[in-house]
Amino acid sequence: MIEEKDSELLKAEVKDYWNENPCGTQFTGLQWGSREFFDEVEKFRYQVQPFMSEVMEFSDHRGERLLEIGCGLGTDLLQFARGGAIVTGVDLTEKSIDLVRKRFAVYNLPGEAMTADAEQLPFADNSFDVVYSFGVLHHTPNTPKAISETYRVLKPGGKIIMMLYHRQSLHVFLGSPVMRLMKRLRKKELSATDDWIRIYDGDRNPLGKAYTRSEVRAMMNRFSSLEFTTRDPIRRNWPGAANIVNQHLFASWMGFYLIIKGIK
Ligand SMILES: C[S@@+](CC[C@H](N)C(=O)[O-])C[C@H]1O[C@@H](n2cnc3c(N)ncnc32)[C@H](O)[C@@H]1O
Repeated sequence: MIEEKDSELLKAEVKDYWNENPCGTQFTGLQWGSREFFDEVEKFRYQVQPFMSEVMEFSDHRGERLLEIGCGLGTDLLQFARGGAIVTGVDLTEKSIDLVRKRFAVYNLPGEAMTADAEQLPFADNSFDVVYSFGVLHHTPNTPKAISETYRVLKPGGKIIMMLYHRQSLHVFLGSPVMRLMKRLRKKELSATDDWIRIYDGDRNPLGKAYTRSEVRAMMNRFSSLEFTTRDPIRRNWPGAANIVNQHLFASWMGFYLIIKGIK
């Protein structure tokens, strides 16, 4: 009982954090909600994550009912809609959903968006052909519960496409030591929270977890045909050569993004 209460308190903190910092807004100074703003968010996302269209199958689900969980600003949801999928996006935060609705109106595309909790989806069993979720379910307190919700709302034979942070990645192995070293060199104060999640999702982010392939297999044991791959974004603060080496040697097996596909 107490655990459940703690989890709800933590979820409220998660919600406050993402309501204040809708994912993607940090990369542009333009006015939120304008066409230029949405264009810039999209351009930036696929410049640093050029693998997205192919790996996430944006054009492969024409006519299928697709749910995105934790859609943020809806950048990927928009690509699925352009590819002909019948899209619904949910997010914990009102701010993101407000922006997603504006965005679909700006580009005159059909799509539904509503606030909802991944751990308790407001949809009937067997509703969707595809459930997509990128960088979300590691931020919610009860990840296994959210995964079991994805299973419930998928139709038999439906597909899940999901990204979770990868624990056996260079980012997690090197993140904390490198961050501490940089701070020491710059003579900045060290804190207990100098870890890999802060490098990625900001100093005040209340919750971020990373998983191994076998942990994901255990959480997803009701799915069949599980497939795993990894990718890394291009890091803007790294020298070009380091990015090239990383992209060629490590990103596809020790990348920070663990991409999982499976069938109900
Ligand atoms: C890192 S952002 C990713 C957003 C988007 N998928 C993207 O890639 O830009 C995490 C998102 O997950 C949402 N989120 C976190 N916990 C959630 C939950 N329990 N239910 C629904 N959305 C959640 C947050 O509100 C936030 O928009």
